[in-house]
Order: sequence, then C-alpha cells, then structure tokens
Amino acid sequence: MQSTPFLQVRHAAKSFGAVQALEDCSITLYGGQIHALVGGNGAGKSTLVELIAGNERPDRGEFFVEGERVRITSPRAASSYGIGVVYQNLALVNALDVSANVFLGREEVYGGFFKWLGVLNNRRMRQETIEELDRLHVTIPDVDARVVNMSGGQRQCIACARALMNGAKILLMDEPTAALGVREAAQVMDLMRRCRDEGSAVMLISHNMEDVFRLSDKITVLRLGKSIATVNTTDVTPDYIVGLITGAIAPKEEHRQSNELP
Ligand SMILES: Nc1ncnc2c1ncn2[C@@H]1O[C@H](COP(=O)(O)OP(=O)(O)OP(=O)(O)O)[C@@H](O)[C@H]1O
Ligand SMILES: [Mg+2]
Repeated sequence: MQSTPFLQVRHAAKSFGAVQALEDCSITLYGGQIHALVGGNGAGKSTLVELIAGNERPDRGEFFVEGERVRITSPRAASSYGIGVVYQNLALVNALDVSANVFLGREEVYGGFFKWLGVLNNRRMRQETIEELDRLHVTIPDVDARVVNMSGGQRQCIACARALMNGAKILLMDEPTAALGVREAAQVMDLMRRCRDEGSAVMLISHNMEDVFRLSDKITVLRLGKSIATVNTTDVTPDYIVGLITGAIAPKEEHRQSNELP
C-alpha cells in the first residue's frame, strides 16, 4: 500500500476548438517521487500542465489533491493547493531582477502604515531569495541583475526557486532542460532530485530518454491525448518507452492505465 497521492488526475479531457488536445489522461503523483510524463510532439503534455496549473479549464476529468476532490479554477487556486509550475516557455519577467521574479505576484510589504502605502520589502525579499537559492545549492553570480541577462539554466533554477518558495509540494516541470547546456541541465536535474528527496512530488516532462531514465521513478506515456501506460522506470527499457510513444509497441497488460484507474 502506498500513501495518499499528492495529486491524482482522472480521465482529464480538453479540446481547443476542433483540436482534441487531451482525450483521456490519468496520472497519479506521489510525494518523494519524480514521475516522468512522456509523449510525442502534440501528445497533450503541456495541455495537462495547463489544466493542473489552473490556466485552462478541463472539459472532463477529476482532480484530487491529497485525496480531496478539487477544482483548479485559477493559477492562484493551483498555488493554494501546493502546485508549482515551471513552464515550457519560461515565464520570467526579463526586466526584473532575481528576487522580484521569485516574488512576482505575492510581493511582501511592510506592515502597518507602510503596508497601507504598499511599500515593497525589497530587502527582505532579496534576503529570502538568497537563502532559498543557497538552500537549493543554486549559484547565481548576481541576484541583483535583471534576469534578461541570465543563462537558460539560471532562469530555470530561478523559476524552480519561485515555485518552491511559494510552498509548492507538487512541482510540474515542462521540458526544464530542453534549452540548456550540459552543466546547466545538470544543475536543474540536481534541483529536481533535491525536491524529490525533500518529499515533493515532481512531474517531469521531457523528450530526453536519458534524463527520463536517469531521474524518474515512474513513467507515464501519453499518446494522442491518452495516457496509455504507467510503469516503474526500473522495470522497463528506453526502447520499450520509445516504442510506446511512437505506437510501434503496444503496452503490456500490466502497464495499461486502465488497471490503475477505474
Ligand atoms: N491554446 C491552444 N489552442 C489551440 N490548440 C492548442 C492549444 N494548446 C495546445 N493546442 C493543441 O493541442 C495539441 C496538444 O498540444 P500540447 O502543447 O499539449 O502538446 P505537447 O505534448 O506539450 O507537445 P510538445 O512535446 O511539442 O511540447 C496540439 O495539437 C496543439 O496544437
Ligand atoms: Mg509541450
């Protein structure tokens, strides 16, 4: 028996006009695990992220956070359920510095009179940002620099730090290393491992089978909008997963999703 899942998605569906982006997707994320979500281009992975992040509303499907049925009606709602997202197309504000990005949308203000004035507590935000990056072993040469000047890896780490400092226990990472060099990718992967080791549930979307096999505990395959298989990573080979993604191989009976969810 496993503990209560941090997040369970059951039979989610979403179409955009005539395009059925997601047809029937189920996935169950546990704390302390990295769960890879893989599939070809257009399989619906980012659409699932949009639903869990509260940016889009599902046409069908149920969502449970720690066993409770929830409706994720907005990004704010997602964040209140402990869901943090690092997007495929990074949503950092170029013109702002690191701590302003980390605290974007929930800036800290002084209490009392100054709160009324809405004065931002820049010094405290800066300090908390430095502490969090430090805790995550992320090195940013200059936290006061605007993020426009930072490398892809540094930006990814900042986006992770933002999600985690928001109290995220469920971390969705959509292609976090796709645009990164070897060293930057290693830094982001380290960060993911650290999040897992601290008990978060991490959902990793990646086209890189090496990364998937190096990092993940479980893999769910999404094909043409349907989650067709979920496996323990150590039970399978990269060739099998690639075969499922392309449709060259049918999932073994014991890997079929329908076994897991009614
Ligand atoms: N906002 C939208 N409006 C219309 N169609 C969309 C929208 N978002 C996604 N789609 C379509 O839904 C399908 C699934 O797209 P999605 O971005 O979820 O795929 P993906 O699995 O993330 O692919 P990739 O690996 O290329 O990132 C695609 O056919 C895409 O064109
Ligand atoms: Mg995508």
